[in-house]
Amino acid sequence: MRSPLIAPSILAADFAKLGAEVAAIEAAGADMVHVDVMDGHYVPNLTIGPAVVKALRPHASIPFDVHLMIAPVDPFIQAFRDAGADIITVHPEAGPHIHRTLQAIKATGAKAGASLNPGTPAETIDPILDMLDLVLVMSVNPGFGGQSFIASQLKKIEALRKKIDASGRDVILEVDGGVKAENARRIVDAGATALVAGTAVFDGGGQASYARNIETLRGG
Ligand code: DX5
Ligand code: ZN
Repeated sequence: MRSPLIAPSILAADFAKLGAEVAAIEAAGADMVHVDVMDGHYVPNLTIGPAVVKALRPHASIPFDVHLMIAPVDPFIQAFRDAGADIITVHPEAGPHIHRTLQAIKATGAKAGASLNPGTPAETIDPILDMLDLVLVMSVNPGFGGQSFIASQLKKIEALRKKIDASGRDVILEVDGGVKAENARRIVDAGATALVAGTAVFDGGGQASYARNIETLRGG
């Protein structure tokens, strides 16, 4: 199994000490910090905004992989870049002009990602693949951590793997939702190169268990 990037989702972290949690996952070997931003409109949950991302930025040097589950998204792109986002991932379903939104992300200097909900076909990325640094496959319906992996998304991961390989471009294929030690290998074998994991990493056990959890997901 290729060794995937591991991006713990701080959605499952202790929100009372997010700075320490971000530092702990970096020390535990995380490749990126996955920041789930939710607005209670596009998804039925409300999490954090640019001010919190800015406060977290000094606590880790690894990339901030910011997943915007918000609509409209365009008004907030610059604010998340200024706060320290390295990758800004948006949902084509969240607005009418995904091409223009990706142009706006790239104009800030951030890397651009597109995230597909379980009901959104892989073909959605065909017109925009040449703009993407990352494709994020939602393997749960977005809004909450701790849900079960939707196995039907494995076929979408395989289809996207083929599209990315055919493009010859270096695009991260990331999977988000219900990723566990038990299914990580199947997800990577389907073609994923990065795994987002919340509850599978943040089990309240602190740095020692975070390192073990990350290593297990990596296939160690
Ligand atoms: C859903 C969130 C979750 C989170 C991961 O909107 O994006 O998928 O990152 O949560 P777990 O790993 O607990 O399923
Ligand atoms: Zn996410």
